Amino acid sequence: MALFTWNETLSVNINSIDEQHKKLIDMINDFYDNIASRSNKDNISTLLSSMKQYTLEHFTREENYMKKFNYPDYESHKKEHDVFIAKVNDLEEKFTSGKLVLSLEVTVFLRDWLKKHIMGTDKKYSDFFIKNGVK
Ligand SMILES: [Fe+2]
Ligand SMILES: [Fe+2]
Repeated sequence: MALFTWNETLSVNINSIDEQHKKLIDMINDFYDNIASRSNKDNISTLLSSMKQYTLEHFTREENYMKKFNYPDYESHKKEHDVFIAKVNDLEEKFTSGKLVLSLEVTVFLRDWLKKHIMGTDKKYSDFFIKNGVK
């Protein structure tokens, strides 16, 4: 069973952004499967770092649209992205140095954060982005 399944309630009504969110969800599921099956540390490290990389790319895309169109909530939205990346950096550092064993709770944190962010924060830009021609 996948940890996290995309459904219409997560849609921001912008196809390209929904696709990016789906990819992030796939990556979280893959990460979860590897932790659940006690995959080796190198595999988990690689997954964590590619997930972080893709998340950064996705956040940058959203932020670029916000800047381009003068989105009024840019600062607070970006702040949420930054706090999340700081948290992931911290997890990555603790994991690499052996101070933390990545657990299923970590994957639940990632899922819950992303779900809450999409539903509560990303959805707020939907109408604004659509009005500005984002597809
Ligand atoms: Fe997003
Ligand atoms: Fe966002």
